[in-house]
Amino acid sequence: MLLAGTIVLAVLWLRVGPQRARGPAAAEESPSLDHEETVTAFSWQLPPTFPEPTVPPDNPMSEVKVQLGRHLFYDVRLSATGDVSCGTCHRQELAFTDGRAQAVGATGEVHRRSAMSLANVAYNRHLTWADPHLDRLEEQLLTPLFGRHPIEMGLKRDPAVLDVLAVDVELNQLFDAAFPNDPKPISFVNLGRALAAFQRTLLSGSSPFDQYWHQGQDNALSSAQKRGMKLFFSRRLSCSECHQGFNFSGPVNYRGHRENPQLHNTGLYNLTDGAYPSSDQGLFETTGRAQDMGRFRAPTLRNIAVTGPYMHDGSIATLEDVIDHYAVGGRHIRHGQMAGDGSKSPWKSDRLHGFVLTAQEKGDLVDFLRCLTDQAFLVDPQLAPPKKSATHPYG
Ligand code: HEC
Ligand code: HEC
Repeated sequence: MLLAGTIVLAVLWLRVGPQRARGPAAAEESPSLDHEETVTAFSWQLPPTFPEPTVPPDNPMSEVKVQLGRHLFYDVRLSATGDVSCGTCHRQELAFTDGRAQAVGATGEVHRRSAMSLANVAYNRHLTWADPHLDRLEEQLLTPLFGRHPIEMGLKRDPAVLDVLAVDVELNQLFDAAFPNDPKPISFVNLGRALAAFQRTLLSGSSPFDQYWHQGQDNALSSAQKRGMKLFFSRRLSCSECHQGFNFSGPVNYRGHRENPQLHNTGLYNLTDGAYPSSDQGLFETTGRAQDMGRFRAPTLRNIAVTGPYMHDGSIATLEDVIDHYAVGGRHIRHGQMAGDGSKSPWKSDRLHGFVLTAQEKGDLVDFLRCLTDQAFLVDPQLAPPKKSATHPYG
């Protein structure tokens, strides 16, 4: 199946073609260009075999918009307290997660969920842990910026916030260049567009696995990692039934391709009759249907070694513990308020049947997961905070 997937991707790759020649510098600055032309002028730096991401027609990509988005992503002036940016909870060296079990917002409020990796976020068919309807980055970012329950950045939708940005000469120039046809470039809408454009460039596909699989470098993986890879793709473990395709993830979108939403209950909790804790019941909160209890999206496993703690609530500390959870076919919590045997949940996915691994096999599987770490992505200067200065309090 993976082979078939690879062929499909290879065909796509041929169709998408190697990176197009770069258009005229800052093409979007020319007001005569329409959206269609602007889209094709952008030169994606796609990892080999990755398809071209879907881009909404009202927010075409451009180099300068991506640069603006990068500045804004790391700009702490976008929080009520002046010390939190998107980059606080989405740190590059941790594949744009925060290293915490649950995120902490500007005012110290603890989020019920764990911050997600933004690696390859451009491809996710639906965003966040459990919302099948949220499919635009432009829309998602309104939650961290303005949300009140919980407060993440706690920004007021108040033009005064924009005035603060407007006095920054460099930002001003970037807004002008990124939105040349807009008489009022500095707006919340354009701020969101730029942040989304930057996030679409967070592409990660140069791990040792990719060197082995796509570039035929046999020594990119150790023997243990190769054994672990076989286990990962095996029927017995069925990891790849949910963590699928080039992104080792739930459903994806890309140009000309759109999958259906998919969420699963992995048997993390079973309080009574399969209930998850009332603090977070996944898809059930949206639909109210019993069978949607505890269903969440399967996140990407790319860079998984650096994104712990794991799961929507950060309740599993290590990769070894994640594998134990799948091996018993659902987590058995013996004591306390969360007590219950997840493997007996009526709502658990029928793809989870448990399995037995020797100690060596378990080590091999963990080793394989570690080879999905893309070191170049974690230190790519194009994705890092812009340089700090007196007028640019980034980071
Ligand atoms: C306080 C920490 C925090 C801050 C600040 C924050 N995020 Fe997040 N982010 C999270 C958490 C927690 C989630 C998971 C939310 C959920 O599932 O409900 C998340 C999820 C996301 C996702 C979904 C990823 C996916 O794979 O579906 C995107 C995109 C995102 N954040 C972008 C941003 C942007 C852009 C900003 C700045 C405007 C930002 N975040 C600021 C904590 C944070
Ligand atoms: C039925 C679909 C399914 C199968 C099969 C599956 N997973 Fe998952 N996986 C998920 C979902 C859904 C989540 C998120 C669950 C949650 O947070 O409640 C997840 C989460 C994870 C995480 C944590 C991700 C993070 O960012 O926190 C890891 C690691 C993981 N799975 C590895 C594996 C491995 C290894 C296997 C095979 C042994 C496997 N998965 C099999 C659906 C699946």
